[in-house]
This record gives sequence, structure tokens and C-alpha cells, in this order.
Amino acid sequence: MQNSPLDLSKVFSFIAEKEILQLENETLKAQRTMYEGTGAGNNFLGWIRLPSRISEQHLTDIEEAVSQLKKNSEFMVLIGIGGSYLGARAVYEALTHTFGSPATQADLPRMIFAGHHISEDYTYELCEILDHHSYSIVSISKSGTTTEPAIAFRILKEHLEKKVGKQEAGERIVVVTDANRGALRQLADEKGYKSFIIPDNVGGRFSVLTPVGLVPLAACGIDIRQLVAGSREMEQMCDPSVPFDQNPAALYAASRNALYRSGKKIEILVNYNPKLHYFSEWWKQLFGESEGKQGKGIYPASVDNSTDLHSLGQYIQEGERILFETVISVEETTHRMTIPEEPANLDEINFMAHKRIDHINKMAELGTAMAHVDGGVPNIRISLPALNAFSLGRLLYFFENACGISGYMMGINPFNQPGVEAYKRNMFALLEKPGFEEEARQIRSRM
Ligand code: PA5
Repeated sequence: MQNSPLDLSKVFSFIAEKEILQLENETLKAQRTMYEGTGAGNNFLGWIRLPSRISEQHLTDIEEAVSQLKKNSEFMVLIGIGGSYLGARAVYEALTHTFGSPATQADLPRMIFAGHHISEDYTYELCEILDHHSYSIVSISKSGTTTEPAIAFRILKEHLEKKVGKQEAGERIVVVTDANRGALRQLADEKGYKSFIIPDNVGGRFSVLTPVGLVPLAACGIDIRQLVAGSREMEQMCDPSVPFDQNPAALYAASRNALYRSGKKIEILVNYNPKLHYFSEWWKQLFGESEGKQGKGIYPASVDNSTDLHSLGQYIQEGERILFETVISVEETTHRMTIPEEPANLDEINFMAHKRIDHINKMAELGTAMAHVDGGVPNIRISLPALNAFSLGRLLYFFENACGISGYMMGINPFNQPGVEAYKRNMFALLEKPGFEEEARQIRSRM
């Protein structure tokens, strides 16, 4: 398979290659359902051809809209939650300096986050920091009414208006929301904020390549053109015209369904580079919200290795045999560093001296994969040539495409999220939101 990121060789001792290939018809049927728009949730398929339909003009419009924010802000606060935040954070954290803004990135605002929880301490401390630094806001909500970002936006809008005045605050706020509906749209129109539209036919967790991801990333200097170029390449590689045994998304969907049916109920996304921590958070939402329905679905978990080998490694090696792993393996690091030799050798690591740290990391990765396979944990490997915008664009689209196929193979609607509403109804009833009187009465009777 040309340029395929997928290596299934460490799955075949659990599920024979021919058993996965026997799922061809079923997988291609699910793929057809998705591409032909004949399945449940077919009004949310706008992401499938999105990369190839993004115009140069659209990218230019985004870059121009954020150019002022880039110049005038030390921080860019992304307000959003779930699909309205995780994609941008995944890409940003993967591509920027682990410890903030070194000299090379000094001219660019650093992306920080709000509205992704309801912590009073976090919000207070964020305002304390923002008191002393210039900042802009990209506020993202498709509905425009989600509680967490609504609270954060109300507070930060007021904070920014007090700090720089209403007019300048208006120039420092960009909104990404629905074309017509919702509080955020109304406010943007009233106040004249620059705004971008989330297409109706793209759900939150599939929206990273819409302005939801592209606007905040561009505002912090990420090369969104390369991100889109990578996703376009993967769109071609996953196209239904590509035969099943060469189509990475179809093969991944088939493999994880075969493993699920053999009793592997939990998939752990594994990285050996902490910059990918938030990529796993994005992936967990994508698969968890898409597949976890009607008592079905693979539970998506994640580990950051080698860190978590010292905490969860024991369970993965010897606990319940209901796990399989999908490892994202970065082929080439951004920086190079070797281990020094020390004559005393008290720590007894001179056998590693002069070797690159990444070589040791790679041997940890290989050794762990072999140990886990021996211990009954199948291992799927996905290789990433390097941590750059192009590779990440490919990977994002690969997982989106595979997720849609996989969900249809499980017989569920991969594009809705009805279960997300349950906690909200209780919370609103407990907070006495008008319209939730009946729920409040029911809750009182249970207490
Ligand atoms: O995938 C989803 O639909 C959710 O995660 C939403 O993105 C999240 O709840 C935020 O919703 P909204 O963009 O309407 O504020």
C-alpha cells in the first residue's frame, strides 16, 4: 500500500490476515453507505469531501482575518468545548514548543484555552494572567448556547472590554458559529465581530478542518495550508476507488471490528511523544461519541508512553484481556540529542552513551509492543513520518474516515450524540433553568 500509515502485522497472531480480508464485503458496504449517504446521520457527511473542497480563497480569508490578532496578542484564548476545541488543541500542542514561546515563536500568540470545563479556580487564574498580557479571543460554538463556553465568553468579553475598551475588544474577538442560529451568531452580528461559519452538515467532532480548527490554528501561526494538503492526500487514499486491501481507513475499520467481535472491547491509543497527548483526547471524542451507542462500541482509552508504562503498564501487560492498542509512531523527531558518556557510570547507562534519545524511545516502543503481543494485547501501528502539519492533516482525516465506516459496521449512527444531553437536562433542572420544571420535580422526588 503506497504511503500507507497502517501496519497490522502484530494483529495477525490474534486475527488471521485472511479473517480481516474476509470482512471486505461488509466493510465496503459500510463505506458505500457512508459515501452514498444512505445511512443514519446522512445529514452530517459534509466532512467526507471537505479537504478537496476547501478553496484557496477560503484559506486566504482566514489568514487575513486573523492577521491583526497575530500581531497584537501575546495570547489567543480559544473558547470552546468538545468538537469545538479538541481538534485545534491537538494540532497546536503537537506542532509547538512544549514550554511555550521560545525565541523562534516570539512573534506569535500562544494558544490557551477556556470554556472547556466549569472550573472557577481555572477561570479566576486565567483572568489573573490576562490582566497582565495582551490577548485576543476566538470563540467557537456551533449551537452558540453550550454552557461551558457561554460562561467563559461572557466573563472574558467583559474582561477584554474593560482592559482595552469596547471598540478594540470588538477587533480582538473572532467568532466561529452557525450561519444563522444561536446566541453567538446574534452577538457577532450585533457587535460586528469577524465571524466564520461552521457548515450545517459537519458535526463538532468532525469539524477540525472547518474554521473551527483552521481559524484558531492560523491565528497562532500554524501552517493551515499544509494541514489541509495532508488531509487532501488522505482523502484520496481513503477514496472508495482504492481497493480494500490498500485502503488504510477501510482496513483499520475492519481490523478494529474484527478485534471487537473477538472480545477486545477497549482500544488504547498509544503515543511515545507527549506532544501527541491532545491528539489522543481528540481521537477519544471522535470514536467515543461516534460509536458508544445502543450498548455497543469500543471504549477509546489512551496512554502517553513511556510515562504510563510506569502506571498503567502492569494492567496492559497482565490485566483483563479485553484490550488492543493502536500506536501512533513518529518516525523522525523535530530535534536531535544524544546521551552523554560519564566515566563514573553510577547510573549504569553508559551502554546508551552517544545514542540518540529517540533511538532509546524507539526501542522502548518496539520492546513494549512485543511484550504486549506476548501478553495478549494486539497491536496496530500507525506511522507518522514527522510531527508536521501535513502529517497531522493526513492522520486527522484517516481517523475520521475510518470512524464513519467502523460505526456503520457496528450498526449504529456514527454521526449523532443523543447521550450527551442526559447530564445537561439534570444540570439545568438542578439550576432551575426555565423550561425544566418537570425534570426538576422528578429529580426532587429521587433525592
Ligand atoms: O461533537 C459534538 O457535537 C460536541 O462535542 C460539540 O462539539 C460540543 O458539545 C460543543 O458544542 P457547540 O459547538 O455547539 O458549543
